[in-house]
Amino acid sequence: MTLARPPYDLTRLRERIPLVKSVVPMNHCSQAPQTDETRAAAERYLDSWNGDGMDWDVWISEVEAARASFARLIGAEADEVGVFSSVSHATAAVASCVDRLAERAGRRTVALTEAEFPTVAHVWKAREARGTPLRWIPVDPVAGRVHEEAVETALDDDVLLLSAAHGYYQTGALLDLERVANAARHAGVLTYVDAYQSLGTRPLDVKAAGIDMLASGNLKFLMGIPGIAFLYVRREIAETMDPAVTGWFGRADPFAFDNHRSRALDWGVGARRFDSGTPPILPAYIARAGMDLLLETGLEPIGQWTKTLAGRLITGGLDRGLDLLGPDDPSNRAPTVAFRVADSHAVETFMRARGVLPSARGPAIRLAPHYHSTLDDVDRALDLLAEAVG
Ligand SMILES: Cc1ncc(COP(=O)(O)O)c(C=O)c1O
Repeated sequence: MTLARPPYDLTRLRERIPLVKSVVPMNHCSQAPQTDETRAAAERYLDSWNGDGMDWDVWISEVEAARASFARLIGAEADEVGVFSSVSHATAAVASCVDRLAERAGRRTVALTEAEFPTVAHVWKAREARGTPLRWIPVDPVAGRVHEEAVETALDDDVLLLSAAHGYYQTGALLDLERVANAARHAGVLTYVDAYQSLGTRPLDVKAAGIDMLASGNLKFLMGIPGIAFLYVRREIAETMDPAVTGWFGRADPFAFDNHRSRALDWGVGARRFDSGTPPILPAYIARAGMDLLLETGLEPIGQWTKTLAGRLITGGLDRGLDLLGPDDPSNRAPTVAFRVADSHAVETFMRARGVLPSARGPAIRLAPHYHSTLDDVDRALDLLAEAVG
């Protein structure tokens, strides 16, 4: 669907994002701009720290509120969400469970796509060095995406877990999650989805899609900052997992101060067992504010507008003779649209100097608007990119 304007008050929204007064942020695939709400959330933490010295109960309740907002965003329960400092950390915790899961399931292989962000692939490679066989699912270099058929063919009866990025960080292409999760379920394979490049741009319901595990950080389309990430694990599965990446917050009672010398570890409820050390409190304040902004507008209208923006980037880019990398259908992609250029970092410097923030990655410049972006923003970014390469 192509809209002339979003089904919400764009002017009012943009008033809450000071950066848009001076530049055009088109780098959501890297970092979201600050909003009045995220700034106020950071200040609330600083005021609490400065005013009270320490208010542990309030700080932990903020972490809980952030956990609950993430759960709402993906259609899960708060008890199905673990709190981490990064997606790497979350992936490492999941990977620390695979040996025991493999023993029980009689399957050992982890299938992963070549579209994984390298940090996720690196965690699996570290597992490979400890005996977990890996099966790589290719990216089609012409289409700039992983084909769902390739995922389906990779899932035989030795595959324990499928690790799949929803949005490909290089091109913005989306994998059809419902389709691959369905194939995985029929093949008896667990699914672990990295949704960092898509979450916040359109509705995503982990239950409806039938996903077992899903991770994301907050600094891209979730309007937050680095230092926090969340992991959804379907409750029934969480309770069969015993992460070796753990700590006191993963216990049934973190404040029991018991070394369990003579008995086995106990575990927090559901995916709370994946919590580990002192949670990222300041990032939790900000993350919650960012996620609540999205929830206030609603992911359905956000998705309608981000699709319109992606469509304008694609048609506008092709009209200007730019070399599109990745699918040309706005409905199966994140709003991130990539164009192949000779020197992506030089192009980024050129555009930044002229007031548009793109994101260089390898052979491409990525233009990643979000729900606050206008069609004029998109046109301005494309004009500058065409000037830079022309
Ligand atoms: C898809 C995806 N996954 C993971 C990461 C990195 O995750 P973290 O730094 O939180 O480990 C990124 C960062 O750009 C990403 O795009």
